[in-house]
Amino acid sequence: MYKVISREAIAPDTFDIWLEHPNIHKRAKPGQFLILRLDEFSERIPLTIVSTAEGRLRVIIKTIGKSTYKLCAVKPGETIADIVGPLGNPSEIDRFGTVCVIGGGVGIAPLFPIAKALKEAGNRVIGILGAAKKELLIMKDEFLPHLDELYITTDDGSEGIKGTVTVALQKVLKKEKVEVIWAIGPMVMMKFVSLMAAENNTLCWVSLNPIMVDGTGMCGACRAEVGEEVKFTCVHGPEFDGRKVKWDELIKRQYQYREEEKRAMEDYLK
Ligand code: FES
Repeated sequence: MYKVISREAIAPDTFDIWLEHPNIHKRAKPGQFLILRLDEFSERIPLTIVSTAEGRLRVIIKTIGKSTYKLCAVKPGETIADIVGPLGNPSEIDRFGTVCVIGGGVGIAPLFPIAKALKEAGNRVIGILGAAKKELLIMKDEFLPHLDELYITTDDGSEGIKGTVTVALQKVLKKEKVEVIWAIGPMVMMKFVSLMAAENNTLCWVSLNPIMVDGTGMCGACRAEVGEEVKFTCVHGPEFDGRKVKWDELIKRQYQYREEEKRAMEDYLK
């Protein structure tokens, strides 16, 4: 059992949660994730590790269905039944030169340790953070010390550039040569960033977040076609070259249980 240390709402339906864990901080690297289960009846939820400290780890969660809703309702002092991790392969951090990190919505949270590590490795780091509107933009102040330049985009123009992150990316790519791009956010966002990266012949890492069950490469639930191969996101990823991902199939499967999820949420709230 793992104790909840703190839980803070940082945007509508979005919670910043610190949990006690004796040793994940010794092994976790940027890009890796955990699978959490609130209790023995709950679904497993994959979540990227945002930060760690001695005996603690931090996750940021948006409520999108029954399981995340239940998880976000935990209170300090309560416990979580299982935490498995760190899972997956760490991000390939190196000194590349100029890099661009792009986060959309709650995808800004898993991008944070990557941006921080890229800056520490000596890169010039350009950040693009996007949200539907100003109130949903998270972690801007935390990112600032780790970025050389920051672009904000909002769909409704309530902060920064009006439009999607690709509008800002286009500006960046016109202005300077970017060696590597990281993009984390909704699949559709990652798809369009990857297409732009492909046009510019720039490596573009994306962190895939398909439905996961066991997280150990056994069930096949998290499969994704990358190039000509079928990869399991939990063990071969979660980061892949977005230019090679077969996005349309992956996006279709992401939404296949949407109706069931909606019903489960409605039943839970009754
Ligand atoms: Fe089962 Fe990846 S979650 S193979």
